[in-house]
Amino acid sequence: MPEREGPSGSLWPKELIMLEPGESAWQVVLKKIQELSDSRDPFMVANLGVLASRHRAFCQALPRVSPFYAVKCNNSIWVLRVLASLGTGFDCASQLELEQVLGLGVAPSRIIYANPCKPVSHIQYAARHGVQLLTFDSEEELTKVAQHYPGARLVLRLWTQDSESVFPLSAKFGASLEACECLLKSARDLGLTVVGTSFHVGSNCQTPHSFMQAVADCRRVFEMGRAFGHDMSLLDIGGGFPGAEGCEPQFEEMARVISAALAQDFPEGSGVEIIAEPGRFYTASVCMAAVNIIAKKAVLEAGGRRKLLYFLNDGHYGIFRIFLREPLPRMPIVVKEFCSEPPLFPCTLYGPTCDAFDKLFQEEVQLPELDVGDWLVFPSMGAYTSAMSSTFNGFLPASTCYAMEHELRSLLGTAP
Ligand SMILES: Cc1ncc(COP(=O)(O)O)c(C=O)c1O
Repeated sequence: MPEREGPSGSLWPKELIMLEPGESAWQVVLKKIQELSDSRDPFMVANLGVLASRHRAFCQALPRVSPFYAVKCNNSIWVLRVLASLGTGFDCASQLELEQVLGLGVAPSRIIYANPCKPVSHIQYAARHGVQLLTFDSEEELTKVAQHYPGARLVLRLWTQDSESVFPLSAKFGASLEACECLLKSARDLGLTVVGTSFHVGSNCQTPHSFMQAVADCRRVFEMGRAFGHDMSLLDIGGGFPGAEGCEPQFEEMARVISAALAQDFPEGSGVEIIAEPGRFYTASVCMAAVNIIAKKAVLEAGGRRKLLYFLNDGHYGIFRIFLREPLPRMPIVVKEFCSEPPLFPCTLYGPTCDAFDKLFQEEVQLPELDVGDWLVFPSMGAYTSAMSSTFNGFLPASTCYAMEHELRSLLGTAP
């Protein structure tokens, strides 16, 4: 990511765009497309102000829950810096993420190392830097922690029903209720401190009911923990909240159900601190991506059906890796003027590499006839996009330019 020295010695992004009040990322994208007549490299525009409005929405809808942003979702230093200034905590999955967040001056007490299966060297790093909250879901992890970080404050991750989520996680993580008792006993026998429970209902969860069941399970495990002498005082409700613009179910509706579950099982005054690990909720709608058509083929199929293959300058190995795992194609905005409503053709959208797997969607999408040099814009591209990209075949993924309003820049001026 391009960065340069800012006016007060702090690092500012090389391409920092100051937004006028009411100016949108979409307007910035269109302006950039007009300016970029020669270079047609893919790019993203990140409106960092969206982070502040997402944070406000989260705190308003779930006032009892402190957000610990999941760094894995979008680890741009600018996203992290804005969130640190807004006062969120952070969920880190590895040493590198811990280094990034600690490097911003965030206090170790505002970090949870929430990967239940950690390399020993990363546990040792957390111990050296005082990041005490660590999740676990197995006996083996307890053995490692007992040896390398006996002073950790452990959080037991429970298995959840995640079949209603676009990206399930429970095949890989989470202890069943039956296993929890043994784990809590082993932790006690090893002299370890368990302070609470966590869960993750799967990313992009489609129903708040998954949260209800998981919160009720946590209450049972709190009781088990207390019976083994653990001071159970932290509930972590994980991530999974949808984040794309205009998506259903709406976050506020989900938050109402979650708040009711919390009021029932962990009522105010119970002395339990509640945190969450939202990722895509904060960053999905921060970015728009603009990609260019670099090649095109028209194919006449048996029966005379005309099909179009468009080759884009970013693809599965760049910022679109998550697309092939999504159930429905995300339709791009076509940046082209037509005199009248154009006819649509079945199209396949390929990325730029020599791999035939490198396409955006399994299915065909319906688009008008376009030309080499035309632009497509994808909204809601801030979550699990650049963070998952590679330079396979020598293609650089879309670079990001950052936009913010003056107010946010002033806030960052005093950031760590
Ligand atoms: C442990 C953990 N916490 C939080 C998240 C963030 O999830 P989401 O982006 O769905 O909010 C993930 C995503 O995989 C995760 O594994």
